[in-house]
Amino acid sequence: MNDNLHQLRCFGCGARIAGAEAQPDFRCVECGDLFEVEYPGWGLRGGPDRPKQDRPNQDRPSHDRPNPGALKWLWRERRCSSDGLDHSGVWRFRELLPILDSFGNAVTLREGNTPLYHLRRAAKALGIDQLYAKHQGMNPTGSFKDTGMTAALSVAKERGFEWVACASTGNTSASMAAYAARAGLRSLVIIPDGKIAWGKLSQAMDYGALTCQLKADFDGCLTLLTQIVKEAPIYLLNSVNPYRLEGQKTPAFEIAEAFDWNVPDHLIVPGGNLGNSSALGKGFRELQELGLVARMPRISVIQAAGANPLVRSIAEHGGAKIEPVEAHTRATAIRIGNPASWRKAARAILDTDGWCLDVTEAEIAVAKAEIGTEGLGCEPASAVTLAGLKKLRAEGKIGSGETVVLVLTGHTLKDADYTIDFHKGTLLREEEAAGLEPEIAHLQRNAIQVEATPAAVLAALKGRVG
Ligand code: F0G
Repeated sequence: MNDNLHQLRCFGCGARIAGAEAQPDFRCVECGDLFEVEYPGWGLRGGPDRPKQDRPNQDRPSHDRPNPGALKWLWRERRCSSDGLDHSGVWRFRELLPILDSFGNAVTLREGNTPLYHLRRAAKALGIDQLYAKHQGMNPTGSFKDTGMTAALSVAKERGFEWVACASTGNTSASMAAYAARAGLRSLVIIPDGKIAWGKLSQAMDYGALTCQLKADFDGCLTLLTQIVKEAPIYLLNSVNPYRLEGQKTPAFEIAEAFDWNVPDHLIVPGGNLGNSSALGKGFRELQELGLVARMPRISVIQAAGANPLVRSIAEHGGAKIEPVEAHTRATAIRIGNPASWRKAARAILDTDGWCLDVTEAEIAVAKAEIGTEGLGCEPASAVTLAGLKKLRAEGKIGSGETVVLVLTGHTLKDADYTIDFHKGTLLREEEAAGLEPEIAHLQRNAIQVEATPAAVLAALKGRVG
């Protein structure tokens, strides 16, 4: 781990420590809050305890400060390189994540470099020309977690850990298990019994993790694991680990690059444990502070109505405090009632004048099916972004000329049961679907039983042609 180039700064009290001094649970011994990685050589000090006008401007001289023009050129060049590290959409940007002693220690599965798709149908329906999906489900294990896992697991390997662990709603565990297997490390997965999608559980098994299913929710699993890592030499890989967020900030760089360094007006992100929105906020903030982009996009976070502690925190307390909720949603990836990174996510929203809102189970299901009709698909938690955008548009909060990017966090195959239940009509209860019946009926495509004759298939086709 490169302690010369980076340090950890407490998000709560501002205390600074070397990376190697972090406690096993990555909490500040002074105030209990989480840390953020910072790079003193860049001459930036944009902490939340300082008003915006006090932050150093971009003209401040610094010898180690990266040169924006040279970086943009270098990062683009690396896309044509034959070096394995350059093929990673995370390590391609390694000048902005100097966290390792040697980049030769990086454990990569060629994560990142995910596609940015134009959402033609949704754009037309909503009257927004420039609507895109950054599909993080197109990562090696099918979710955005890979971009953070390559960074934090590489730190674990460099620091000589044999075991890594995470509590998870499924995707983190799939990703961690894959990267650990790749690095030759052992992995411990703690998951809520019966509350994660089978596709994700099967991945952890396939990659050889020791998987423990607990009679607890995600929040209970994380609390328990926090106690375990204090007693055993196991490296914690949940997003409380600040190195996870360093990897997860890189899709912000990809998005900015895709728009030729003119950032979109609006980024919409699903919210669970709130590491991802925090990381993307940090990524865009660093680009701006380093002079690579002129401004930040508005960052909005969408939660499921049954798991909406940040929505409540911002509406009731201006994002200054959070009250945990008992979480319920079929979008199991974001079934989280006590999110760890809420303070960082609140900052990303408030600093950029974004919104934080929630959407119902039926709105999620409809939005997911609509993303399916674009030929993309995603898992339910990702679909909250489109459901949230529809609400923001209906409330007049997003203009037709704005450029909007939805962050799709997981692949549609992660939770095939959800998709099949939707199309069969067994997903939602009648009262949940109330008011959205026409949209649901229009989108449902249940498989039909047909006799094994050409005539029968042609008869089935007849009603659908034209
Ligand atoms: N979307 C998907 C597909 C997820 O798996 C998660 C989180 C989120 C969104 C929310 O991201 O927590 O950074 O706000 N999944 C975690 C897990 C909690 O264990 O896989 P977040």
